[in-house]
Amino acid sequence: MTKLDLFFDPTKCFIGGRWVAPIGHELLPVENPSTGETIGEIARGQAADIDAAVAAAREALAGAWGKTPAFERGRILTRMSQAVLARVDDLARIEAMDVGKPLKQARADAVALARYLEFYGGACDKIMGETIPYLDGYTVYTLREPHGVTGHIIPWNYPMQIIGRSVTAALAMGNAAVLKPAEEACLTAIAFAKIAEEAGLPAGALNVVPGLGEEAGAALTAHPGVNHISFTGSLAVGELIQRAAAKNVIPVTLELGGKSPQLVFEDADLDRALPFLVNAGIQNAGQTCSASSRILVQRSIHDQVLERMAERYRALRVGPAIDDLDVGPLVSGRQQEIVGGFLGDLGGGEIAARGEVVSGAPGGGHYLAPALVSGVRPDDRLAQDEIFGPVQVVIPFDDEAEAVAIANGTEFGLVAGVWSRDGGRTMRVAKAIRTGQVFLNNYGAGGGVELPFGGVGKSGHGREKGFEALYGFSVLKTVAAWHG
Ligand code: NAI
Ligand code: MG
Repeated sequence: MTKLDLFFDPTKCFIGGRWVAPIGHELLPVENPSTGETIGEIARGQAADIDAAVAAAREALAGAWGKTPAFERGRILTRMSQAVLARVDDLARIEAMDVGKPLKQARADAVALARYLEFYGGACDKIMGETIPYLDGYTVYTLREPHGVTGHIIPWNYPMQIIGRSVTAALAMGNAAVLKPAEEACLTAIAFAKIAEEAGLPAGALNVVPGLGEEAGAALTAHPGVNHISFTGSLAVGELIQRAAAKNVIPVTLELGGKSPQLVFEDADLDRALPFLVNAGIQNAGQTCSASSRILVQRSIHDQVLERMAERYRALRVGPAIDDLDVGPLVSGRQQEIVGGFLGDLGGGEIAARGEVVSGAPGGGHYLAPALVSGVRPDDRLAQDEIFGPVQVVIPFDDEAEAVAIANGTEFGLVAGVWSRDGGRTMRVAKAIRTGQVFLNNYGAGGGVELPFGGVGKSGHGREKGFEALYGFSVLKTVAAWHG
């Protein structure tokens, strides 16, 4: 068993500022996806632990946390940011072992978490209400207040980034958060609690209960003491979350992935586009909500783009996260099966190129050679369903109208990229695509924490990241005073 050198105790839940064993005293194994080995254990929180966490959050709102002025919340988040930066190497190594992402990518996640804390720390005391001109004898103003207790159910693909965009924004607005990380990847969420404790976040402002989706996750979603739920994950569970939230009539933010296209027109700067086209599909082994899994290419340059992408695919090296190659393993045997299932049934498509799993990669790891697929029709399963693995399909189009129709032809709408030197066309297409974010002659823009993010259609609703998230994690109260 490879040793996990941790600065926190992963077998405990963090509730009300204390490290407590889960009430059921059960644990879940931690698997290293690069080797298939069990490398540790985490708490298996259940409904009773969620009850305790929600109660602790409620107490925090009534106590020290609720009375903490906005600027002081900002100072605490800023201290947490510095603590994350001081531990970037530790956090990256832990995430690489837990999720299987290459070290460089895990490091980028830790740096992004620090940046979120810095951004939201700085924003705490800069979010304001308005005064509204009204009838003679009145003064009307609005107050932006926290929802209260916010529940955060996050997935395993980018734990630190999603904690950043969801939990830190909720804390910035003065909510008290209960975080249920994904059973496949809880370690950095628990690390985050340790960092919060050390930075002096008041007890109960942040509570972390690791556990299974159907147990701790379902309990948090249904809890009558929760005032807002933020969920990132699968469409199927997103529907369950929205249904459960409806019972308590509370708002939800849902980020449910996508089938994000990049549209490559014949006047595109291909030298610039090529790395983006491929990286957006294979980053984190394609297990990315905003992965670009459909590359739509104008027919006149289709074969050229396909071949240039294929060249890059053939050079991709897949291996253990710790070796920091281009691509790591998938997170689990189950995810490997799901993605393998898609590749086992290509419909009319064919494999244009594959990457290579390095020969020394441990047999127990969940490796899958990235696959570039051509010949797929826009309505084929491969071009419609979220695969969540290192698989991209290349689809030809004839003109702008067809490109937009194909881009809009799935049930999702999260991110899109447009490549063209015609400025007017990029602006037109940006308007015509049904999506939450559009990138013109780039894809992802470096992932900036400042950029509001979220979907339309079955990609979900609500926005996280940027200043916009602070509106989502707050509720507006209108005060109308009559003074004669
Ligand atoms: P999932 O949606 O089951 O897991 C995400 C989170 O939801 C985890 O924390 C999990 O514990 C929790 N959860 C699961 N069932 C729950 C329930 N009944 N009530 C409350 N919380 C619950 O996703 P999973 O099973 O890990 O992956 C399946 C597929 O979902 C992937 O192949 C991918 O297509 C998609 N997915 C999309 C993500 C995104 O970033 N949009 C992230 C993870 C998965
Ligand atoms: Mg699941």
